[in-house]
Amino acid sequence: MWVTGEAYEPYVGRWSSQVAHRFVRWMGAAPRESWRDVGCGTGAVTRAVLDLADPATVVGLDPSAGFVAYARRTIADHRARFVLADAESLPFADSSASVAVSGLVLNFVPDPDRAAAEMARVVRPGGLVGAYVWDLGDGGMEIIRAFWDAASALDPEARALDEAVRFPLCARAPLGELFVRAGLEDVEVDGITVPARFADFDDYWQPFLGAQGPAPAYVATLPEERRGALRERLRSALPRAEDGSIPLRARAWAVRGRRPG
Ligand SMILES: C[S@@+](CC[C@H](N)C(=O)[O-])C[C@H]1O[C@@H](n2cnc3c(N)ncnc32)[C@H](O)[C@@H]1O
Repeated sequence: MWVTGEAYEPYVGRWSSQVAHRFVRWMGAAPRESWRDVGCGTGAVTRAVLDLADPATVVGLDPSAGFVAYARRTIADHRARFVLADAESLPFADSSASVAVSGLVLNFVPDPDRAAAEMARVVRPGGLVGAYVWDLGDGGMEIIRAFWDAASALDPEARALDEAVRFPLCARAPLGELFVRAGLEDVEVDGITVPARFADFDDYWQPFLGAQGPAPAYVATLPEERRGALRERLRSALPRAEDGSIPLRARAWAVRGRRPG
């Protein structure tokens, strides 16, 4: 599901990177800190940290060799490096970083509690831990919500694949509770909304053909005729502005907390 950076970028990467910028500002970390970006993918959060947070270092890690290669190729900055690793077993010593963050990852990790505990472990006492996930409910991440509404209307089996059903972590209260269970203090959750305007229907639909992420992976399983039916249902369901563009929005829930001490 997470292999090709070139296909991920037009699908979620372009919206993730806008959320990442807002999120990094919201983290409010001091300059010259050492950051960890857990599940860095193609590098959206690392890039935002480099652009906005004046870090001493950022280490991005991800189990996808394809995404890590993409991040290494596209982010040439002496402060950043990328390693292949898993969120449930971070390759860093206790208290070895100041800030650990993660964008759009925790719902994909089999044991999110373990990942949150790992992020808390690797930051020093007083260090910051933060994360965000898409808000998959109504009025949240509309790009993906519209997709699963259309898919479920045509295919009863798609209902079980709907990310809002599969990922109960992607909501305000469960996300905050995850950080509290990890032993973090001053836990806060806030919504981050960015406008997501598509030039036309193809601009919306083409990225779903790239097989990166749950919805595109579902499209890849459909025979041509059913794929066409889904495309046409979405074409008629999506809102249109006067100029033919498709005005949607993408909202994430962001959580931050501090390691005690
Ligand atoms: C939606 S992408 C987000 C990537 C990037 N952080 C961003 O904001 O664009 C999800 C990422 O989670 C990574 N991932 C999935 N399971 C993981 C795990 N167990 N540990 C760390 N990363 C994981 C995937 O490889 C993928 O890069």
